[in-house]
Amino acid sequence: MTAAAAEETPPLDRGRREAGPLLEVRNLSVSFRTHSGILSAVEDVGFTLYPGDILGLVGESGSGKTVTVSSLVGLLPDNARVVGGEVIYGGRNLLELSDRELEEVRGGEIAMVFQDPMTSLNPVMKAGRQITEALRIHGISRAEAKRRAIELLDLVGIPQPRRRYGQYPHEMSGGMRQRVVIAIAIANRPSILIADEPTTALDVTIQAQVLEVLAAGCGAAGASMILVTHDLGVIAEVADRVAVMYAGRIVETGTVETIFNRPRHPYTIGLFTSLPRLDGELDQLAPIPGAPPTLAARPTGCAFHPRCFLSQGREPCRNQTAPMSSVGSGQSAACHFVSETA
Ligand SMILES: Nc1ncnc2c1ncn2[C@@H]1O[C@H](COP(=O)(O)OP(=O)(O)OP(=O)(O)O)[C@@H](O)[C@H]1O
Ligand code: SF4
Ligand SMILES: [Mg+2]
Repeated sequence: MTAAAAEETPPLDRGRREAGPLLEVRNLSVSFRTHSGILSAVEDVGFTLYPGDILGLVGESGSGKTVTVSSLVGLLPDNARVVGGEVIYGGRNLLELSDRELEEVRGGEIAMVFQDPMTSLNPVMKAGRQITEALRIHGISRAEAKRRAIELLDLVGIPQPRRRYGQYPHEMSGGMRQRVVIAIAIANRPSILIADEPTTALDVTIQAQVLEVLAAGCGAAGASMILVTHDLGVIAEVADRVAVMYAGRIVETGTVETIFNRPRHPYTIGLFTSLPRLDGELDQLAPIPGAPPTLAARPTGCAFHPRCFLSQGREPCRNQTAPMSSVGSGQSAACHFVSETA
């Protein structure tokens, strides 16, 4: 069963869920051509994004978060290939669109915010112009575009937006640049924002502010968001739902409350132990021993088995992939022995 199929509807989310899914990722698998042969980076990933939801995608470095979100909008590296799956948005499978169609989707309905603002900004074009260019692609007048751009700069908390409109990215701090990127991302009122580690490259002192701007901008645009991060504090702050990745697979999904307070997959349990829980108590379990595997050395069966406190060398863990199964209201986990973590 896929994650999406295994999810149930928690009572609080029922209102916006009745509108149906906005984006459905089913059985997504991605491989890389490398010097060591074809290596699988993302396997059988599935999740559902509902209107208005912020979905946090978490997991250690190398777990496949960036590969997953990049494949949704056709931004994979050249040596990558989607080997299976579907990404259903607006009745279309995005994996079947042409480059040109995908470009249109990225400029309008699905917008991206990356870790480094300079990967999105043009260093030799004034900030305001970069926003109006984004807006003017969609056929509004020059004057109206300028007015909207200044409004957007103001919305993302840039002081003196009229002055900043005429500045180049190099005249701005990293935080200001990322605000400009957020303004561009929400300019055309996308229905989905994909933010991949949007505050990681910024000074720690302004990370929370920029995150707030991102969440507020998302709300103002009426967008849903997929927020990629390895920072669980960020997830606690803004996410509604969480998907946890390990070694290219989603191993657990649920609401932010269930994932923080009642995690069921041994990896999630390990990941969340060093953090204060949402209810203020501290868990007492030891941190996860070992390190995540590289692509070339992913273990057989459940890839987490060499590090898992629950496996204890049991045969299914070593030899069989654990399917996602429902473990409660809106919560699913991929573990052969999940009943033992209740
Ligand atoms: N172009 C590439 N060629 C070969 N392997 C790649 C390529 N890009 C990424 N990988 C590998 O794919 C796996 C998943 O990478 P990905 O960037 O999605 O991880 P991530 O979860 O986003 O990690 P991080 O938290 O460090 O950003 C990693 O093992 C990475 O080394
Ligand atoms: S399937 Fe086995 S190794 Fe994997 S998380 Fe469950 S108990 Fe641990
Ligand atoms: Mg990444």
